[in-house]
Amino acid sequence: METQSQWSSKLGFILASAGSAIGLGAMWKFPYVMADNGGAAFLFIFILFTMLIGFPLLLSEFVIGRQSQTYSTRSFSKLTGKKYHDLIGHLGNIGVFILLSFYSVIGGWILLYMIRTIYVLVAGSSQHDYEGLFGSLISNPFYALGGQALFIVLTAVIVANGIQNGIERASKIMMPLLFTAFIIIIIRSLTLDNAMAGVSYFLKPDFGKLSADSILFALGQSFFSLSVGFGGMLTYASYLDRKTDLTQSGVSVVLLNLVITILAGLAIFPATASLGIEAAQGPGLLFIVLPYVFDQLPLGQLFYLIFLLLFFFATITSSISLLEINVANVTKNNNNKRVKAVALLAIGLFVLGIPSTLSSGLLGDVKFLAGTFFDNMDYLVSNIMLPLGAFLFSIFTGYLLDQRLSHQQLVTKPYQEPLFKLWIFLLKFVIPLVIIGVFLSLILK
Ligand code: PHE
Repeated sequence: METQSQWSSKLGFILASAGSAIGLGAMWKFPYVMADNGGAAFLFIFILFTMLIGFPLLLSEFVIGRQSQTYSTRSFSKLTGKKYHDLIGHLGNIGVFILLSFYSVIGGWILLYMIRTIYVLVAGSSQHDYEGLFGSLISNPFYALGGQALFIVLTAVIVANGIQNGIERASKIMMPLLFTAFIIIIIRSLTLDNAMAGVSYFLKPDFGKLSADSILFALGQSFFSLSVGFGGMLTYASYLDRKTDLTQSGVSVVLLNLVITILAGLAIFPATASLGIEAAQGPGLLFIVLPYVFDQLPLGQLFYLIFLLLFFFATITSSISLLEINVANVTKNNNNKRVKAVALLAIGLFVLGIPSTLSSGLLGDVKFLAGTFFDNMDYLVSNIMLPLGAFLFSIFTGYLLDQRLSHQQLVTKPYQEPLFKLWIFLLKFVIPLVIIGVFLSLILK
């Protein structure tokens, strides 16, 4: 029996959706890729893609989810009567499982760093070789797998508690804390000597450094960081009442995500610039450069712990949305099966995640196609499955779904009428063409 859950409030829905969007994409990947790809020029392209591609796709997931009021492997056919349309939901359902299996690896690193920083604060000891520390923590199978398992368990516990008591409550607590922690870190970062050099690096565009690859990444990032293409926002919108204005909610989610993306840059670049560190440091930026930066400050480890905490909130509010997609599909929205489904999925995720976790250690030398096992999972999800999902969402909403249904869902005020026309135009022509173009340039490279 289907017992459809509901958010208790519009705010809960927006915070949960923003929580899903704001995650490793905005806070971990974006800053280091931006540092490598022309700074603000890259930011500019990303904002453009977010408005013209990510945002319309977000609305498309919202429309399908709220209209169908059901899980993503059934919602498509429920709206069109064609069973094979549900393949879009199946693609996403598999995609998020793979994504979460390696997302939890980084989640595990964050937890390990939090535990370590608490230890340093309590025991008063310190060590300064952060490059060595990072290498030894993530390459130690015992620590790395332990961190990953702990992260999955924490995600599972929240999701097992259901929509209102689990996901909504966690989002309502963690998101405001995330914003508060961000403000503290940014004030600290901007008041460092020479901070303005970092700010100007961050805000001064250098279009000469933009390459085809960076444009490709900006596109992928515009789906990834808004959680669109796999049915996550669809799932969250299926728990929504009929009254909430979808366009306004979508605008809030997009703005919050953009603000956090920019704040992440403002937290990191002034801090690195003040110590004269080259900002381009790859994935280790947050785990090698930042602890080093914080080490130079009074109460630095405390600030670093706050930083890790905000990082953790961002990550877990995304991983719960990933797991929820699987849970909704496996239980077919039957809440009585929730706990058992969560437990089984968590075990499966841990097992599938093992080779990704070991990619930074024991399996570090096993390389094929895109690199390590971890790199391959990331490549498969971020460069193939997610763009394909996004493409199918735009085709579905642009061509296959009755436009009267979307109109009913989206247009509640007169000013939204022209925006609706623009939305359809983007979904029909612009988004599919851009995705195909970028896809081809990737394959033909
Ligand atoms: N938006 C999340 C992030 O940026 C990742 C995500 C993708 C979550 C797809 C759900 C669905 O980290």
